[in-house]
Amino acid sequence: MKTLYRLSTLLFWLAVGGFAAAPQWLPEPLSQTPPSRATGTQPRLTPAEMARHNREGDCWVSIDQQVYDLTLYTPTHPADPAVILAWCGKEASTAYHTKNAGRPHSPYADRLLPRYRLGPLQP
Ligand code: HEM
Repeated sequence: MKTLYRLSTLLFWLAVGGFAAAPQWLPEPLSQTPPSRATGTQPRLTPAEMARHNREGDCWVSIDQQVYDLTLYTPTHPADPAVILAWCGKEASTAYHTKNAGRPHSPYADRLLPRYRLGPLQP
């Protein structure tokens, strides 16, 4: 009987200790996890940052105050990729709206754009 009493007392205090220490073992609840922007890993979408992505293999442009990463799209662009590559790192609203030839892109092209949007251009 004494053994049973000691064993249950031991188990009781082990359980109490486990609950007390649990917060240190468990991962942070999602609500306390900082968003990725707060870690500083995400670059700000400024003109200076955009200008750094100015080549084939790393091509950002801004169109109508939004920044787009066209790196993956450029090789599949229906016209020669060179027409986009000339605008990497730059403000390309007029180029996009005129195709450099006074003609607008189709509604289909406009619908493709959001897939490549990074976010609004920041001051
Ligand atoms: C940024 C500078 C850009 C320039 C200078 C440019 C220029 C051109 C040119 C010269 C053509 C072929 C000629 C023609 O179809 O009339 C064309 C076609 C096309 N481009 Fe671009 N483009 C640009 C960006 C983009 C972007 C960002 C997208 C979509 C994400 C795109 C999607 C298309 C599509 C779908 C076509 C086929 C025709 C159409 O649907 O309008 N282009 N582009």
